[in-house]
Amino acid sequence: MIRSSYFTFKILRYDAKNPSREPYFQSYHIKVLPGLTVLGVINRIRDEIDGSLAFRCSCRSAICGSCAMVINGKIDLACRTQVATFGSDTIILEPLPNFEVIRDLVVDMTPFWDMYEKIQPFLIRKSPDPEKEIYQSEEDRRKIDQFVNCILCACCYGACPVIADEPGYLGPAAAAKLERFVLDSRDERPAEALEQVNTPKGVWACDTVFRCIDACPKDVRPTDAIIGLRKALVKNRYNRILGLNKK
Ligand code: FES
Repeated sequence: MIRSSYFTFKILRYDAKNPSREPYFQSYHIKVLPGLTVLGVINRIRDEIDGSLAFRCSCRSAICGSCAMVINGKIDLACRTQVATFGSDTIILEPLPNFEVIRDLVVDMTPFWDMYEKIQPFLIRKSPDPEKEIYQSEEDRRKIDQFVNCILCACCYGACPVIADEPGYLGPAAAAKLERFVLDSRDERPAEALEQVNTPKGVWACDTVFRCIDACPKDVRPTDAIIGLRKALVKNRYNRILGLNKK
């Protein structure tokens, strides 16, 4: 028999349009059936109890990356987190750290998207456009697999201790996406294109704490990307000295 149980959800509420009211936790006592996700619960709260609760979601399948938040102290996607997996019957929901809160669980992602845009997240070609698709071998595709899997949910950005200390830091997701294109056999961006991250706030700011890897719901390893980009920059530097520079 499928049993339901009662859980208390404590959700951090705040409205940036009403900054005189300090953030506060609001509790909701909810009956939960096995299999219900945290996203399922907050949808129910919004639809049936409190229409003012603000959060983002779209796909409900860990694909769109819009429902990242802090769930009982751990950064994760609400749509892939089943309520019944928690040992406690109290679940605390907070917005992603390292962002300004707009309302409740909705944060202002502008700094995250600014960094993403900066790295030019698309294939850059020097060759003339081909008549048909550019072939990519399975082996070459495997080199970029993990970085292609990034869904830009910003869990890594929220978990990164450097972002809290170093405003303007590139951040793990932008680094992972840049490495995705640098390693792509079809991309022809010049070596100089990497220079924009060859700065104290670029790839050199990472303290290799690995929290980004722990936080990623898709098993992407942004620290691998940062180390890969550092190696590429060092190689470019020596190639430049030796007059050998190409991509
Ligand atoms: Fe799309 Fe959670 S709703 S990732």
